[in-house]
Amino acid sequence: MATLQVQPARLGGRFRPPGDKSVSHRAVLLGALASGVTVARNFLEAEDTLRSVGCLRALGVPVELEGGVLRVHGRRRWSQPGHVLDAGNSGTTIRLLCGLVSGQPVEAVLDGDESLRRRPMDRVVEPLRRMGADIQAKDGRFAPVRVRGGTLRPARHELPVASAQVKSALLLAGLYAEGRTVVVEPAASRDHTERLLKAMGVQVRSRALDGGGVEAVVEGPARPEAVEVEVPGDFSSAAFFVAAAAAQPGAELVVEHVGLNPTRTGLLEVLRDMGAEVLVEDLREVAGEPVGTLLVRGKQLRGVRVGGGLIPRLIDEIPALAVAAAVAEGETVVRDAAELRVKESDRIRTVVRALQAVGVDAEELPDGMVVRGGSIRGGEVDPGGDHRIAMAFAVAGLLSREGVKVVGTECAAVSFPQFERWLRVLAAR
Ligand code: S3P
Repeated sequence: MATLQVQPARLGGRFRPPGDKSVSHRAVLLGALASGVTVARNFLEAEDTLRSVGCLRALGVPVELEGGVLRVHGRRRWSQPGHVLDAGNSGTTIRLLCGLVSGQPVEAVLDGDESLRRRPMDRVVEPLRRMGADIQAKDGRFAPVRVRGGTLRPARHELPVASAQVKSALLLAGLYAEGRTVVVEPAASRDHTERLLKAMGVQVRSRALDGGGVEAVVEGPARPEAVEVEVPGDFSSAAFFVAAAAAQPGAELVVEHVGLNPTRTGLLEVLRDMGAEVLVEDLREVAGEPVGTLLVRGKQLRGVRVGGGLIPRLIDEIPALAVAAAVAEGETVVRDAAELRVKESDRIRTVVRALQAVGVDAEELPDGMVVRGGSIRGGEVDPGGDHRIAMAFAVAGLLSREGVKVVGTECAAVSFPQFERWLRVLAAR
């Protein structure tokens, strides 16, 4: 197992995050179905997105990947895979593929690693069944999932929790069904699927509902048309450095070409509430996604309360936020985030234990956590194989008094293989 020892250091410099993981998955998954050749530049070459590529190749879709440029030769009909489709650690791969494979003339088994096998799949399996899919999960809930593709019918789905993966799986299944497939969520989750489908010429509508929910509608049958995608920098990968720089008085960080889709940037609102100085410059739209530059100037932050409809907009950034909260003045309370318990690890438990291991007063809540800020002493952290927690606690080392040792840091390659290199560049003392 790789370990990483991070000494206290001041953050500074210019950073260009790797391609966005969510957008990269969608470029290859939608491109696989499209008419024509979809080209995605700045495609994220990380373990998770390469799982999507591998599964699609096994389904007979030609995919070329060279120097960060992806070319997918779309196929209306995929072919029978010769083996189990292994999604590894990737929830996005397995869930979106459940929707896509349900309408293909193939029979497939989708599986993943130990972490993925513990995560709920009933949330996609059950609504897909209501669209006529022949799909079964182990014990009704878990991977491996067996799908026998066939004819689908449209349906209206009301999701109990906001989830872009579930919403996307259902909208993608809706591409095969004749009529309108509707997905209602209690709060807005990331909308990359809707944006890319629109860019590919598919009729998709989204609107806010009275009472707080959000509705997305796709009109089927529809086949996406190939486009050129310029994948923005991944806000979630940038978040480790952004949160740490914002919380470190004297730090100055510039983040270039980063995706600033408002369904992803809840962290910036929270950091500003905590007293952070984060400016957005050069905001523009690139291939249907907002992109810009962030200027972060470190400050002494104060604790904050986070919950409600904001949670889906910063769900992957809570480990980074918890680290900033640990050096803020006063208490930070996160609520309404029970979803964290079914991520790559139980992120409420893993984050709180990691905070405690580095000398921070923190407590679990059923749906969140309390972090009593002050300072980070330092110590050894086991992120439990969870990439985001490994990276969050590596940057915690920079903010600590005695340094932090993170064990098992190879898991960062799931989303951000160059993390350690950037850490060394940005934390030069
Ligand atoms: C993702 C959606 C989120 C997020 C995950 C990626 C996606 O999951 O946590 O890292 O690409 O759609 P949920 O939609 O399950 O909340």
